[in-house]
Amino acid sequence: MRSQARARANIALIKYWGKSDTELNTPAVGSISITLDALWSDTEIEFDAALAQDTLSLDGKEDAAQLARVSRCLDLLRREARVDLRARVSSRNNFPTGAGLASSASGFAALVAAASRALGLALSPTALSALARQGSGSAARSIFGGYVEMRAGGAADGSDSFAVPLLSATAWSLTVVIAVTQKYAKVTGSGEGMRSTADSSPYYQAWIESSQADLNVARAAILNQDFGVLAEVAEHNCLKMHALALAGRPPLLYWNAATVACIDAIRALQSASVPVFFTIDAGPQVKAVCLPEAAEQVATQLRAVPGVLDIIVSELGPGIETG
Ligand code: PMV
Repeated sequence: MRSQARARANIALIKYWGKSDTELNTPAVGSISITLDALWSDTEIEFDAALAQDTLSLDGKEDAAQLARVSRCLDLLRREARVDLRARVSSRNNFPTGAGLASSASGFAALVAAASRALGLALSPTALSALARQGSGSAARSIFGGYVEMRAGGAADGSDSFAVPLLSATAWSLTVVIAVTQKYAKVTGSGEGMRSTADSSPYYQAWIESSQADLNVARAAILNQDFGVLAEVAEHNCLKMHALALAGRPPLLYWNAATVACIDAIRALQSASVPVFFTIDAGPQVKAVCLPEAAEQVATQLRAVPGVLDIIVSELGPGIETG
């Protein structure tokens, strides 16, 4: 009753922001992401009759704050397997946890993959994706590698809300250059941010209504390997998400001065015909997505931006790996 799994972080090019059901954790909009090779969570789990409750060690430290969320996710797997054993979970990220680098995506994807194996459940990747979604919306996408689409779904029980692979990592190589502008970012978490945006932003309805069009353009751009079209729709969708968060009450501004300076640097590269675009999630880090031949130049330019503390470069990577 022991297993381990590796899952990688992913970055959304068409964003998930807003939930249709907070209990089921179903997204109000679909999303499209790329899975990153260089950023992963390794999770080990052991179900043990001697344990009175679940335990969680995150990066070598007991983590009581995350334990309730992990236990709730494990309950879904216990129900599926019809067992009532508690588990010892140990998870490590090879990148800073909670710094706006999608550690909940890789973390919950690795958790459900490891737990389902430890419990002897032969679940399909689709079923794992739906389970991971209930831990963290973006985790549903980290089950798969390369280019991935999350379907919002419409079923009352959330059963059609899972991710599907669009294109493999090797079919179209992209490189992601991450400019870290703040370490251990203290920001409004995505769950809270989504709730307050949905409740108070006058642009929320327009966001929902325009999401399908962005998904269609991005999906076609990926399947056609059309960098220019993908760049335009991804930047638009990212800025639209931040615009609606900014217009909420209270307003949510996830950026700092270096975030804006990185956008400027990327725009300067674009003016010089360098194939690169930016995307930004619920934190101040800037993710520059580029064709591999531009990666060195992009990294050099972003490293020189005042306020950039660190640069992480990643290719696209595979989905979950269990062992
Ligand atoms: O999966 P969550 O609840 O951490 O939300 C992710 C939200 C964004 O990163 C901003 C967008 C996305 O689609 O990943």
